[in-house]
Amino acid sequence: MNETPKYYLTTPIYYPSDKLHIGHTYCTVATDALARYRRLQGYDVMFLTGTDEHGQKIEDKAKEAGVTPKEFVDQIVEGARGVKDLWKLMNISNDRFIRTTDDYHVQSIQRIFKKMYENGDIYKGTYKGKYCKPCESFWTESQLKDGKCPDCGREVQDAEEEAYFFRLSKYADRVQHLLEDTDFLEPRSRVNEMVNNFIKPGLEDLCVSRTSFTWGVPVDFDPGHVVYVWVDALFNYTTALGFLNGQYNDYDKYWPADVHIVGKEIVRFHSIIWPAMLMSMGMPLPKKVFGHGWLLLDGGKMSKSKGNVVDPYILAEHFGVDALRFFLMRTFPFGSDGNFSNELLIQTINTDLANDLGNLLSRTTAMVQKYFGGTLPAGCAAWAAPEAADEDLKAQAAALRGKYEEAMDAFAPHKALEEVFKVIQRANKYIDETAPWALAKDLEHNGARLAHVLYNLLEATRICGILLTPFMPESMDKLFAQTGVPAGGRTWESAAAWGVLPETAAVTKGENLFPRVDVEQALQELEQAAEEAKKAALPALETEPLLEEKVDFDTFCKSDLRVVKVKDCQAVKKSNKLLKFTLDDGTGTDRQILSGIARYYKPEELIGKTLAAIVNLPTRKMMGQESQGMLLSAVHTEKGEERLNLIMLDDQIPAGAKLC
Ligand code: MSP
Repeated sequence: MNETPKYYLTTPIYYPSDKLHIGHTYCTVATDALARYRRLQGYDVMFLTGTDEHGQKIEDKAKEAGVTPKEFVDQIVEGARGVKDLWKLMNISNDRFIRTTDDYHVQSIQRIFKKMYENGDIYKGTYKGKYCKPCESFWTESQLKDGKCPDCGREVQDAEEEAYFFRLSKYADRVQHLLEDTDFLEPRSRVNEMVNNFIKPGLEDLCVSRTSFTWGVPVDFDPGHVVYVWVDALFNYTTALGFLNGQYNDYDKYWPADVHIVGKEIVRFHSIIWPAMLMSMGMPLPKKVFGHGWLLLDGGKMSKSKGNVVDPYILAEHFGVDALRFFLMRTFPFGSDGNFSNELLIQTINTDLANDLGNLLSRTTAMVQKYFGGTLPAGCAAWAAPEAADEDLKAQAAALRGKYEEAMDAFAPHKALEEVFKVIQRANKYIDETAPWALAKDLEHNGARLAHVLYNLLEATRICGILLTPFMPESMDKLFAQTGVPAGGRTWESAAAWGVLPETAAVTKGENLFPRVDVEQALQELEQAAEEAKKAALPALETEPLLEEKVDFDTFCKSDLRVVKVKDCQAVKKSNKLLKFTLDDGTGTDRQILSGIARYYKPEELIGKTLAAIVNLPTRKMMGQESQGMLLSAVHTEKGEERLNLIMLDDQIPAGAKLC
């Protein structure tokens, strides 16, 4: 008996220094679609994702937030709207989730590090070089770009400390051969980049331990050292299967991985350092690393520090999870960069989902309902003399699975979807060509032909539905329910067969799966949602820090602070800021003070109030009116907005009483 073929695929494990954005979502949705595709084909799939939780940046951020590093990462990984929540929302079907702070992983990393030390590939020396903190990357002088980090373009720091090194140089030839002479790394363009930029200039040994911070896997045979975060992170692909730990025992079953899907900036780690370390450990190499492009915003990379990240929660809640998943996979060629925009998202939903797929589904189900009460007559699958349009639709649908498979196997989901949509468009054209509404005018003569046409449409829809399942799993379940497709008609095998749908399947016109989006309204709502999210992320309450500089008592006493009563208060003409107060300051002569608080108070609500004022400031003119002093108020910031409250005193206190 043949064993079920295995397929092991991974996403990069995410760095939980901030919430995930649409770029991270892109990579995980793509890997999820590939995993679902392999399951559809009948593979025994292991799909791994997780979080990469060590390193100096996390330690620093936790300190800033006043919590321990573990508390900090727990919140982002497990907390509300954190990493796990996002993957659940996006319907990610990972079989396992690893956190590099998990005990079993830490134990494995210590054993792995020791093994490479014992085999002589890790040795002790002094590290002198440059370090990019945000990227957690060491660089040599020659690798810097204009003196800055070649990955992110930010400033690097001088670093010098006792450290362990990995003999990366020893593996340079073998890695070069792997890259140049096999299809280990794809797309091919990334091979030249790796060989020319990193291997040919000379691979230097890699610093693999740090002593200047503690948030990492401790080197158990040399206290004070923690394992370099990338060594810790890369081996997750094996520790999550149980390599050198007792947590799992799937290593022999799934390793080597069939593919690591990674973003282009971490291809270097996956295609040079990772295979070299595996060679050192005597472990089999993964079969492939695929380096996808970036989702850009206005031509640049999204980053929290630039403040231009796109929140996947907002998009999924607005347009639906499946529409978002589909858009990400349909629009951007997987190996290249692509420019994200809300306009493009809406356009894709309206064109492909609402117009093409949505129309095909709703027109077909509506016609089966209208003309046949929801059930086609037996015998409708066959037609003695098929017309050219019938043949063409069938031929295109029959050829679809092969084209789709070719594209998916080449990590080109956008092409696979393009092929599916060609058939959907063909089916819509078939409706126009066969004009079912005309056939329906004479059901007695044309009823059988009409039923056959509708059956063909249901079959084309079914085949497309199967192949769209990895991208829009929930919506396709609904599509199958509406078109009466039984479980046997949803399989990979049946995607290459015509006539699988039972002739008398019950067809229902259900909810509109892909409603059309009103562009203007959606853009406005998105802008508002982004604004609200920005506000929600602001600190709830901020007050100015206390002044360090001291003021001597005599100087303080020079300020004449008095209780005043508001006799009258009016808005100053032509000013939207100023209010004019007429005040009783206890002297018997009215005092006039102008105050820029019109934004916070209506004049009439202040009349009769007891306030505090400084009365010995030099007289000032504002908008042509005199102001003899200043009213005291308390100022703070709430959710980014300045708030002001006048200091209001007990009405029992007489005007003119001195404040001291
Ligand atoms: N922790 C490392 C990976 C270790 S794997 C052993 C890491 N984490 S990350 O959170 O910074 O990035 C995770 C993935 O998200 C990377 O593959 C990265 O390329 C991808 N993306 C981050 N921003 C992206 C876009 N704007 N567009 C597409 N993918 C991007 O790197």
